[in-house]
Amino acid sequence: MVRHRLFGVLGLLLLGVQGQSDNLGLSNGYLTINTANFNARIVKDAQVLASLTPAGSSFDFLPFDKLSVRANNGQYHWGDITFRYRQQGSNNWIDGNSATARRPVTAVTNGALAASNLAPTLGTSPLNITREWINVSGDLGLRFTIVNSGTSTIELGSLGFPAEFNSIFTNRDASTIQRLCSLSDPYIGMHAGYIRANPISGTGAALVVTPLSGTDTPFEAYRNLAEQSYSSTSYGSQVFEGLYEWQVLTKAWAEREWAGITPWNPASSRTLAPGQSLQFGFRFSLAKDGVRGIDAAVSGTGTPVAVGVPGYIIPRGSPAQLFLQASSSVSSIASDPSGALVVKEVSTGSYTVTPSSTAWGRVRLTVKYADGKTQTIHYHVTKASTDVLSNLGTFLTTKQWFDDASDPFGRANSVMTYDYEAGAIVKQDARVWIAGLSDEGGTGAYLAAMMKQAIQPNAAEVAKLETFVDKVLWGTIQTSDYGVRKSIFYYDKAAQPNYPYLTNANWGSWTSWSRSSAYTVDRAYNYVHVAAAYWSMYRVARAYPSLVKSHNWEWYLLHAHNTIIRATQRDVGYNRVGLMGETVFGEILADLTREGKTSEASALTTAMRSRATQWNSEAVPYGSEMAWDSTGQDVLGYMPTVPHWGWDGNARRYWDNIYGGKLQRIERQIHHYGSGLNALVLLSAFRSDPSDSYLLQVGYAGTSGPLSNINQDGGTATVVITAQASSAWP
Ligand SMILES: *[C@@H]1O[C@H](CO)[C@@H](O)[C@H](O)[C@H]1NC(C)=O
Ligand SMILES: *[C@@H]1O[C@H](CO)[C@@H](O)[C@H](O)[C@H]1NC(C)=O
Repeated sequence: MVRHRLFGVLGLLLLGVQGQSDNLGLSNGYLTINTANFNARIVKDAQVLASLTPAGSSFDFLPFDKLSVRANNGQYHWGDITFRYRQQGSNNWIDGNSATARRPVTAVTNGALAASNLAPTLGTSPLNITREWINVSGDLGLRFTIVNSGTSTIELGSLGFPAEFNSIFTNRDASTIQRLCSLSDPYIGMHAGYIRANPISGTGAALVVTPLSGTDTPFEAYRNLAEQSYSSTSYGSQVFEGLYEWQVLTKAWAEREWAGITPWNPASSRTLAPGQSLQFGFRFSLAKDGVRGIDAAVSGTGTPVAVGVPGYIIPRGSPAQLFLQASSSVSSIASDPSGALVVKEVSTGSYTVTPSSTAWGRVRLTVKYADGKTQTIHYHVTKASTDVLSNLGTFLTTKQWFDDASDPFGRANSVMTYDYEAGAIVKQDARVWIAGLSDEGGTGAYLAAMMKQAIQPNAAEVAKLETFVDKVLWGTIQTSDYGVRKSIFYYDKAAQPNYPYLTNANWGSWTSWSRSSAYTVDRAYNYVHVAAAYWSMYRVARAYPSLVKSHNWEWYLLHAHNTIIRATQRDVGYNRVGLMGETVFGEILADLTREGKTSEASALTTAMRSRATQWNSEAVPYGSEMAWDSTGQDVLGYMPTVPHWGWDGNARRYWDNIYGGKLQRIERQIHHYGSGLNALVLLSAFRSDPSDSYLLQVGYAGTSGPLSNINQDGGTATVVITAQASSAWP
């Protein structure tokens, strides 16, 4: 509820009410261009791609149904081009953009399915650009020829090709989203790079977009495109992530907007002498058997394919495997930083990749092939997972340990949210739950500390956490009837007249709950955290009884059970939808059964079965308080595998920094907690069908994702969930 309310407010503030124009020229109709594998339509005037369906299918990868509200200047489509150039010797980059001020392009007849010269829509420029839609062995191809028609040498410092897919959820219900929408992810891997897109249902043919052979089109960066957000689609919001472009050249951005940031690939530019020309292009191909066939489809276009085992987030000191499949032989493999990864060939196409004993963080492998292609594979090296966990436990129970007994909110003793950048506990935030030990944004720290004990108990940490349970969790976060409050920090001058509330925080916003609002117990998601916390202490008490002093295992297990049952009562909202992290309910049920707690096990079974029965009858089960998240969709539809640690197994999230991040903005997050949660579903499905290694590949990637959120000292990104994928970054 709170979230929907926010978007209502954002909607009014950001989206405004603007008119739609037909700058694309939709009223003049479309050209149909068919190949053996696709039926496509391009807009007649603008010659940008309007619709792309597999031959014989009605599933459209493009938002043709929303085109009438995406026809304004400044709204991007496949076929558009953005660039920056300068005369050699000049410092000033000049921008070009085919979407800014559209005019009908000049049709050219040259044997292509459709071709045009872009001069009318680009205005005066020394770059003479021709765009062709072509037939590439039955696939659809898009090719640009750029000629320097001026009299001096030009440096091309940015070149981007906007990519559009039907990822618009705005004003659509869940079934409609499943039926119509698709999601895309990049592999920013230079000549081996590609974009993959698949129906959000996780079924049906998937689409891959690879570099067009005969052109030199490396995938250097993937840039989030700024578009005005009209109320019709809410571009750049929780219901429409927005679009990106495939950048072939990025030097001009690296010099300006991205100065000081280490890009995924080195930024480059190209020079063009007068009369010289360059070609760039893309090939759209189908993986007819769906997501599991994406590697084969990419390989089928002559694009090199890499598969890392177990993945791309790997611990230092132990070897991983890498398999390369390409039509040309490998001429060199280099690590950056040098020596961080040591690569040894085992047999043709098969390598071991061993991180050095001191490596940590991002490492890029650059593979050069004899045919001139370059491929980059992006790793993240962690400490050994047992060390990561132990560092995490230490950090959480020392740096994030809050024991100020005079705190009027009753937060002592607890593991609180921490601002890693500032090096301090977050005692106040206008989004009160962040400092209030509830909601995902305020719970993550203490829950991580407690779950860690279930796997790797530490006596001193357990002793501290027991005081948290007795002083804060039971009685303050939780009421005596097991209700879970939404926050125990609040903004309430009447209730706390002497508390030194920060003067510069945004206390007026809807997130600054008063005590009575904060103390409501009506959000089911919050009960999962508390149940999981008790359960982790139950596991410790059962396996290491001497470590737990204040309560026995039974107390913890029954508190976990009673917390779940309380969540099913009428005064708790969202308790009929799937809840993030509720996999632990199944663990609690198994333990109740094992412990002979038959009446509790039976009550829990009844409560859970009631929801399962309902979900079984629904086309799109589970639901969510959000348009979508880690609880309501088919995971295969939105968790990809690509040879890049940031996207491999990444559960797409782009809005949660609004609720839990230090930088409150819409941006693609790298390994949000959804990666780990969704992985549970994939790994469980894999156990049911061990022949389906794709499930293991994506599931393992998702489950190792959270390791990349833990710093070398054990500090986590609990406030900045992770800002590594800033929309402004490459
Ligand atoms: C641009 O290229 C086209 C053919 O590719 C040519 O007809 C036209 O004259 C060129 N324009 C300029 C300004 O050189
Ligand atoms: C496309 O190319 C293939 C061969 O690569 C050819 O068989 C087919 O007829 C072509 N289709 C069209 C529509 O040109």
